[in-house]
Amino acid sequence: MKTIYVLVFFCFLLFLVAEARTTNQTDCKTFNCGNLDFDFPFFSTGMPSRCGLFKMNCSDHEVLEIQLAENGSWYKVTSVSQALTITITDPRLNRSLETGTCSDLSSFSLPDSPWLNMTTLYKCNNSRNKNGFAYANCGGGGSSLYYSNLGESHNETGCSAFKTPQSWVIPRNKNLSNVNATFSLHLNLPGSCYRCHRRGGECKMNEGEFYCVEALIDPKSHDPKSHDPKRQEKLKLGLGVALTAVVIIIMVTIIIVRANNARKSDWNGENVEAVAISKFCLGNGTRNIGKEQCEFNLLKSKLSLQEVRFVSE
Ligand SMILES: *[C@@H]1O[C@H](CO)[C@@H](O)[C@H](O)[C@H]1NC(C)=O
Ligand SMILES: *[C@@H]1O[C@H](CO)[C@@H](O)[C@H](O)[C@H]1NC(C)=O
Ligand SMILES: *[C@@H]1O[C@H](CO)[C@@H](O)[C@H](O)[C@H]1NC(C)=O
Ligand SMILES: *[C@@H]1O[C@H](CO)[C@@H](O)[C@H](O)[C@H]1NC(C)=O
Ligand SMILES: *[C@@H]1O[C@H](CO)[C@@H](O)[C@H](O)[C@H]1NC(C)=O
Ligand SMILES: *[C@@H]1O[C@H](CO)[C@@H](O)[C@H](O)[C@H]1NC(C)=O
Ligand SMILES: *[C@@H]1O[C@H](CO)[C@@H](O)[C@H](O)[C@H]1NC(C)=O
Ligand SMILES: *[C@@H]1O[C@H](CO)[C@@H](O)[C@H](O)[C@H]1NC(C)=O
Ligand SMILES: *[C@@H]1O[C@H](CO)[C@@H](O)[C@H](O)[C@H]1NC(C)=O
Repeated sequence: MKTIYVLVFFCFLLFLVAEARTTNQTDCKTFNCGNLDFDFPFFSTGMPSRCGLFKMNCSDHEVLEIQLAENGSWYKVTSVSQALTITITDPRLNRSLETGTCSDLSSFSLPDSPWLNMTTLYKCNNSRNKNGFAYANCGGGGSSLYYSNLGESHNETGCSAFKTPQSWVIPRNKNLSNVNATFSLHLNLPGSCYRCHRRGGECKMNEGEFYCVEALIDPKSHDPKSHDPKRQEKLKLGLGVALTAVVIIIMVTIIIVRANNARKSDWNGENVEAVAISKFCLGNGTRNIGKEQCEFNLLKSKLSLQEVRFVSE
């Protein structure tokens, strides 16, 4: 009976270990917003930030909002395509463009995210007529021009860079650009990012190099090699679970085999006893009382099996 308790205890332990391992992944689940299902690389407010790269606020089911960077500005989502192209509106720029008070486009800038395809524009003080992007709508201030193809010369003083949607830099005609508060961005994630997430890790980019912060690591670490010892730790944990399982299987096997043996030997014992008594009563030990009576007497008496055996030999 004690072994049963030990077994139950081990099973409980195994369950606890397994539970602890999966908790981090179960925090991140598919969420529904406006009849659409989202999962990685999107995550919902209320989930930990390791669940994805783009936080979504879905508390108002009419208006879905998205953050392009951690703690960044919120953008209204118009659509999300299967090919991971999101169409969003910057409400601040929308307001500026609608009211016609947009005088300085450089107050607009998308976060410099490694996961988004964007282009760079340069705001320059000098009014040299370069080929490129010169924005009409926001020309109110009169001093700033916006260039897309400065090349090496962007380093010249008087120019500053900012990130914009790719669609902006294709002018519709010579005087008018495509600046629009509603624009599309293509999410560009390496496949290893999805694998990293499935392992419970966090996808990071440092100086153009992708790396995975494993589940059991300090999220602040930016050294791509630093996940190795932690990975071993995880491996050890897995090994521990496997070992526990093996021990339990062995224990169960031993208990079953023992129980079987015990039953078999009980049966054998009875059998040997009966055979011994029968043998004894068939021989000259009957003393005219008959075989049945002899057997009955022997069984009734407190003769142990050993004694009967001894007698019968
Ligand atoms: C879950 O994640 C947290 C922080 O991201 C980490 O401290 C913890 O060790 C992780 N637990 C497991 C079992 O991976
Ligand atoms: C989400 O949006 C609602 C309004 O739509 C707002 O009240 C709430 O504070 C937002 N949540 C976050 C985390 O920004
Ligand atoms: C975002 O905000 C949270 C809480 O305000 C802070 O702990 C975290 O460091 C911030 N992250 C970044 C990248 O600024
Ligand atoms: C942009 O501004 C116009 C006019 O102010 C408004 O009708 C429209 O709803 C706005 N779009 C978004 C996505 O905020
Ligand atoms: C996005 O940029 C990557 C390289 O940075 C490129 O391989 C990919 O084709 C681009 N995707 C789109 C839709 O422009
Ligand atoms: C920009 O110019 C500074 C000095 O004026 C120089 O040190 C730097 O390397 C230049 N950067 C690029 C990207 O050319
Ligand atoms: C443009 O020139 C003004 C002064 O003439 C200066 O204050 C401003 O910082 C300059 N802008 C850039 C982007 O260099
Ligand atoms: C572009 O601007 C020039 C002068 O500023 C004007 O003469 C021309 O008609 C404009 N073209 C269009 C298509 O608006
Ligand atoms: C901005 O883009 C949206 C969607 O692509 C389009 O419906 C709208 O007409 C555009 N606005 C302007 C001023 O071009």
